Amino acid sequence: MILIFFGPPGGGKGTQARRLQARRGMLQISTGDILREDIAAGTPLGREAQGYVERGELVPDEVMVGLVAERLRRPDAAAGVVFDGFPRTLPQAEALEEMLARADRRVDHVVDFQVSEETIIRRLSGRRVCQAAGHIYHVEFRPPRRPGFCDIDGSPLFQREDDRPETIRRRLEVYRVQTAPVLDFYRARGLYTALDAEGKGEEVAARLDAALGV
Ligand code: AP5
Repeated sequence: MILIFFGPPGGGKGTQARRLQARRGMLQISTGDILREDIAAGTPLGREAQGYVERGELVPDEVMVGLVAERLRRPDAAAGVVFDGFPRTLPQAEALEEMLARADRRVDHVVDFQVSEETIIRRLSGRRVCQAAGHIYHVEFRPPRRPGFCDIDGSPLFQREDDRPETIRRRLEVYRVQTAPVLDFYRARGLYTALDAEGKGEEVAARLDAALGV
């Protein structure tokens, strides 16, 4: 199965994609996580992407398409894949369709995580992420057992650079103007599924599983 998780920053895409990866053996391809790893490691990709990510702008399409094409060729992408944060523009959606077609694959569902702006702000301002593997927490909604440290690997938790209020506003604007219109591409192909992503994580997970029939 190939899924695309669509939705605004803080919609809960990463949280639910990681759950599907852990429970159902699907591979999460989070372009945001890949970029953050490269930025932390100071690779050429990381140096190119850093300014865009910190300003809340989109990294250029050709960079993102190349990155995803490379990731999709690896053997662990042969089973199920959850795309989290890709595609974000029409050229990215078209490029993904072509790459999948070349491998005789196609997207099964595009899930649109729908949340209010108030929820987005509360989720993003309290988000903490682990340094070692990007495990996701929230100071109020999903606190770690030991404050400041990851339950799974014990590494320190940090606040993402782009989770500051002014950058959150810019990311929301970019989402509305550049990314949300891509949903029409998938509506036209009959792949669109709306998901009420408000409420507790387990409630959202139950709705998601029901929508996917898994
Ligand atoms: P990316 O990392 O993809 O960020 P995003 O799309 O803005 O999404 P987020 O990671 O902020 O939110 P999420 O929906 O995954 O929420 P999460 O599960 O963490 O992209 C970052 C940047 O990289 C972009 O701005 C851009 O610069 C660049 N980039 C990436 N992909 C690109 C592309 N394709 N093209 C160009 N540029 C690209 O949850 C948020 C918080 O809420 C957490 O604390 C979590 O614990 C909590 N939470 C989750 N669900 C619930 C719930 N149901 N109830 C209560 N709390 C919850």
